[in-house]
Amino acid sequence: MKQNWMLLLLAGLLIISCNQNEHTATVQSPDKAITVTFKIDEGIPFYQVSRNDYPIILPSRLGFLLKEIPGLDKDFRIVETKQSEFNETWEQPWGEVKTITNHYHQLVISLEETTEYKRKLELEFRVYNDGVGFRYRFPGQPNLNEFTIIDELTEFKMADDLDAWWIEAYANDIDSECITKKNKISELPAKMHTPLTLVGDQVAISIHEAALIKFPAMALKPNQSKTLKADLIPLSSGDRAIVSTPFHTPWRTIQIGSKPTDLITSYLILNLNEPNKLGDVSWIKPGKYAGIWWGMHIKKHTWEAGPKHGATTKNMLAFIDFAAENKFSGVLAEGWNEGWEGDWIKEGNFSFTKPYPDYDIEKIAQYAKEKGVGIIAHHETGGNVANYESQLEDAFDFLEQHDIHMLKTGYVNKKPGGENHQSQFMVNHFHKVMETAARHKVMIDVHEPVKDTGLRRTWPNMMTREGARGGEYEAWSEGNTPEHTTILPFTRLLSGPMDYTTGIFDLQFDSTGTFRVHTTLAKQLALYVVIYSPFQMVPDLPENYKGNPAFKFIQDVPTDWETTKVLNGEIGKFITTVRKDRNSSDWYLGSITNEEARTITFKLDFLADKKYRAEIYQDGADADMESNPLPVDILNKDVTNADELTINLAAGGGVAIRFYEKNK
Ligand code: NOJ
Repeated sequence: MKQNWMLLLLAGLLIISCNQNEHTATVQSPDKAITVTFKIDEGIPFYQVSRNDYPIILPSRLGFLLKEIPGLDKDFRIVETKQSEFNETWEQPWGEVKTITNHYHQLVISLEETTEYKRKLELEFRVYNDGVGFRYRFPGQPNLNEFTIIDELTEFKMADDLDAWWIEAYANDIDSECITKKNKISELPAKMHTPLTLVGDQVAISIHEAALIKFPAMALKPNQSKTLKADLIPLSSGDRAIVSTPFHTPWRTIQIGSKPTDLITSYLILNLNEPNKLGDVSWIKPGKYAGIWWGMHIKKHTWEAGPKHGATTKNMLAFIDFAAENKFSGVLAEGWNEGWEGDWIKEGNFSFTKPYPDYDIEKIAQYAKEKGVGIIAHHETGGNVANYESQLEDAFDFLEQHDIHMLKTGYVNKKPGGENHQSQFMVNHFHKVMETAARHKVMIDVHEPVKDTGLRRTWPNMMTREGARGGEYEAWSEGNTPEHTTILPFTRLLSGPMDYTTGIFDLQFDSTGTFRVHTTLAKQLALYVVIYSPFQMVPDLPENYKGNPAFKFIQDVPTDWETTKVLNGEIGKFITTVRKDRNSSDWYLGSITNEEARTITFKLDFLADKKYRAEIYQDGADADMESNPLPVDILNKDVTNADELTINLAAGGGVAIRFYEKNK
């Protein structure tokens, strides 16, 4: 909701610098710390970015190469520049923070070719106190209608050889689930996905994009020393994108802070997305969910029907009882529909309207309604998008008929010769599903998704997604390294919420000892605060929570926040996050460490000037993620905002705290 807004459009007048002879234009952030300079040098467009006169991005190329026609990369002149200022505060209907300030200075540069074609291209820069967004606009024009992009030339020529925290692009079919690596920019060996986090002594930068619509995702290619170049994920034809004018690209974003923790509370990506398009969103509600899921990952159950079938009527009714008893809003059922038999990863021939015979959807829907619990449907596609799209309307009608308002989708695999997960084709497909879901009043959680670029602002039914190695890797692989979750907040999570699925209590579930969860139990709790998602799963088998007092933290912890603060953190080592509940005066703290045990001290000055009781769930004295992961000490302590707390985290451990007002 807009509380106030100000729009100054002073065409031509407010231009800080636009010298037709030098062909430059400059714009600064509202606090004047960040400066973007655009220039045309011998017909070629460049931009550069500095912060407090310290170079961040050196002159870097802009433009496109097109198929069968001359590129839009040279022979330009500046026709006009316009500068404006925008300042508003707006409210997220749900989120990690309620109120967001959107204050920027904008510079729009209209270019025209000096050749006979006289084609026009516009560059739009928005400069915030926490970074820069820019995009290309292709106005409608006689000499540019439908065209094919074969390369985007945008560069990020970094001034310093910063440390890059990156995941490889094109590594496999679901490459967003690669392990994060760290290299100097000049030593990056492969193409990578964004968000890409770059860190130096005085600066932390995240390169990403916002509002990815009708265009391929942008990966980055290390070019020459310290230069990163846009690499649009190609279609199966090899072309990058097919567009028709008028058109604009997604925003290329450069978030800039003094230290990595600053990036976590930057809302630039959301600000660059359009406001809520759905109008009344009172039907959209964050929550917690249990479900028929972990049992399949640890091989107790199967997705397909048979003697170990997980999604049976009996199991589902029991899960609904479990959710109702604990006030969880939903229950997920995977493997409820026909198509899991055989090699579903290869085939993906699922039906989205035919339940297995032992899953009585009518009875389940009726029972869920009586208990006030929502069913979370599951549409695994196996990457067979054609099959899914051919059933899309029927699939959503089916959800509507059964009063289902939450859906998890999945795209395990890519068909041979098929489309890349982040290509224009898949971006369009995800968009279609998101819009169809909104029309049917369905919230979505996408696994194996297109990366998040803040579309939840415009489509608030786009709740959460996977898009990185989640907790499930602990069930059937070598697992997630203890530092993995201390990296995610500074990398993948900068793009948006993640359905990580923390909350396993039976950490040593495998009697052969081959698989296990590589954290302490207290760290599983802390991750509910550290990893933001409006939908958090309570994934373990209900019997594993029974009688464990640590379960109270999962019952209490909210998933919708008024404020978020990061108290401390170093990428790959530790992080402490606090969040204030949106619907009460409670605060919650999550702090986690990598494989090193450490002692952390933090001030409680984020609390209001009141008396609080801290309910602390910390690693027991001898806890250790490998040898002794289960002990959790639960302590109660009276605190105020003048206090400091010192907590010992075990190796691979964490601490979770609920602060509530004492006299309430
Ligand atoms: C991978 C998803 O991440 C997981 O949550 C799901 O259970 C399986 N695919 C099956 O759809």
